[in-house]
Amino acid sequence: LSNDKFVQGLPKIELHVHIEGTMTPELRWYLSQRHGIPLRAGSDQIPLFSEEEVRQAYKNIRGRIGAASAEGRKCFTFFEIYYGGFDLLQCEEDFFLLAVCYFERAADMNVRYCEPFFDPQGHTRRGIPFEVIMKGFKRASELAERKLNVKSKWIMCILRDSPVEDAMPTYEAMLPYRDVIVGIGLDSDELDRPPSLFHEVFKRARDDGFKITSHCDFNQKNTHEHIRQVVEELSGNGADRIDHGMNAADRPELMETIREKDIGLTLSPCGYVRHSSEEEVFSRIRKLFDAGIKITIASDDPAYMEDNWVLHALYLVKEKCNFSNSELVQLQKNAVSICWADEDFKDSFS
Ligand code: HPA
Ligand code: ZN
Repeated sequence: LSNDKFVQGLPKIELHVHIEGTMTPELRWYLSQRHGIPLRAGSDQIPLFSEEEVRQAYKNIRGRIGAASAEGRKCFTFFEIYYGGFDLLQCEEDFFLLAVCYFERAADMNVRYCEPFFDPQGHTRRGIPFEVIMKGFKRASELAERKLNVKSKWIMCILRDSPVEDAMPTYEAMLPYRDVIVGIGLDSDELDRPPSLFHEVFKRARDDGFKITSHCDFNQKNTHEHIRQVVEELSGNGADRIDHGMNAADRPELMETIREKDIGLTLSPCGYVRHSSEEEVFSRIRKLFDAGIKITIASDDPAYMEDNWVLHALYLVKEKCNFSNSELVQLQKNAVSICWADEDFKDSFS
């Protein structure tokens, strides 16, 4: 399946990819050399001395959250490795390069439109001005549209494990750059951080005309209640999309609300199978799709998920959910329907 010509040629839309989660070992090593920043990984701050050691550290990610060192000093949690990469992004050129590298790969996979997430709080708290981040991304988006035939709009995520009081100032700091930002999301560690904590900022964003989405990752604590809050309450009357939200498949009433409100789900199967059985994962994806819920398939944090990009995620669901080629086309039609591109672009996408 890995050379499936139909999947390769399919014009694609990617709606769930964290730009900071696309930092490959090559790029991480390059940035560390460029800035003279020594690389370290994990809570034990183990030094990494080569691109190969970075690659190995990525391979040794165990679990998403919390202490992984029980499995040995050379294992790191996802969030340790993910946020560790932030420190290398120092200047506008770095944000530009990170985004261009993703857009180039997207073009190779025939992704024609995408809505990458970014986590500004992870940068502004290191003293990086908002302007530096946004100028880099904007320049990358312009180049991708002009030279690579990849269109993009950005989604700013609020870090739910940061203090709630930081959310509104972050939102307000973003407003001068809203020409490239289409939506507001909620990500990072969701343990005991329900979406309801962030009602105020999402209500404001809705009133200001932004689209709304929130992570409800697979099999997290209180996931059904988190999904309920997102579909019924976030920003007043519920969000436009959920990132993941796959546990809705366990609850008919959640599925019904999602279908009635036409809420889209952005699923990233390559992440789920790292922590859950294939049966648990693919039966739910099938069930949601067959129920007519608008799911779309994406990569999430491809550099940290064994280099599985959206193309591989599609190979995987084709094989494991038994999706026919016309069903794969339907997945892209779902993405067209739930994406936040201009109507002209949506009409022209085929
Ligand atoms: N989950 C939650 N937050 C994130 C992730 C993720 O996979 N990637 C980047 N931020
Ligand atoms: Zn995500």
